[in-house]
Amino acid sequence: MHKVLVVGGAGYIGSHMVKRLGQLGCAVTTLDNLSSGHRDAVLCGDFIHGDLANTALLARLLQPGRFDAVMHFASFIQVGESVQDPAKYYENNVTNTLHLLGAMRAARVNRFIFSSTAATFGEPQYSPIDERHPQQPINPYGRSKLMIEQVLEDYDRAYGLKSVCLRYFNAAGADPDGELGERHEPETHLIPLVLQAASGRRSHISVFGRDYDTPDGTCIRDYIHINDLCEAHWLSLQSLMQGAGSQRYNLGNGQGFSVQAVIEAAQRVTGRTIAVQDAPLREGDPARLVADATLARQQLGWRPQFADLDTLVRHAWAWEQRMAGLT
Ligand code: UFG
Repeated sequence: MHKVLVVGGAGYIGSHMVKRLGQLGCAVTTLDNLSSGHRDAVLCGDFIHGDLANTALLARLLQPGRFDAVMHFASFIQVGESVQDPAKYYENNVTNTLHLLGAMRAARVNRFIFSSTAATFGEPQYSPIDERHPQQPINPYGRSKLMIEQVLEDYDRAYGLKSVCLRYFNAAGADPDGELGERHEPETHLIPLVLQAASGRRSHISVFGRDYDTPDGTCIRDYIHINDLCEAHWLSLQSLMQGAGSQRYNLGNGQGFSVQAVIEAAQRVTGRTIAVQDAPLREGDPARLVADATLARQQLGWRPQFADLDTLVRHAWAWEQRMAGLT
């Protein structure tokens, strides 16, 4: 079976991927510096505690023949922080990724699956957003991811390194078995925050703006279940293993839900009243971000299984109850 190095395998998306690859019979190795990930979230395979800045470690780890492919989840992801401290984002998301790609080249590992983002598109010019949409990111986070997408195009042309860039819209939900979930510190994402307000770990949820040009005035996002994202990685890995060329895919359900709709879903699922406070809008939040994932459906045969918002919130709620000590 495939031998896969998962960088950032102790994080939210990476840990779900490691579990999935293990279930599929792959030989998985996680490399993670635990700066935001959790050792106990790595449920199978080998674990190496290390940093991508450590090029000697990378050279030792990436021996020729040891890995068929690398999946890279180890990025900083907070848009606001990237504006305040861009160096942190360029050093990790760009420079460290270049270290990883350099070690892959040296070891002749030629398959790479990269966690990219809807933030590479910037302010939407039309909706839903397909792969032809111009990429004009409006913050260092989005730029750092776009830079690597561009590097990967050049590396394919020059070195034959094949990559799949997966542009996630809003990754959400949790492992349906209840073993894994979102544990960001600090948490900034809507669904876990709403559920923390439901469990009592937070007093309320703030709604960032109610005057957007949307039916209920709150922002619309395309929430995509973590297991569906993992499935897209798995299909991408298989396509690369079968010799397919480099690709870029937008990953979402193609269905947008407003902040208000998410809060209502959380109230339905939890049966609890959630305290809501209106707050000023958060800078750089577009009114609507929805993916057109037709290409991934056509080329990878990707079919999201958990497109229903209540199901996604239910899985996240099971995890939140565990985190809050309610189960
Ligand atoms: N929101 C609130 N209150 C909160 C938190 C969020 O109202 O306390 C709103 C935001 O304004 C936004 C929506 O909920 O409209 C979703 O916000 P998230 O922070 O959960 O997610 P984003 O859409 O901001 O970010 C996601 C990814 C980023 C990526 C971005 C693409 O998490 O990594 O999509 O633009 F950059």
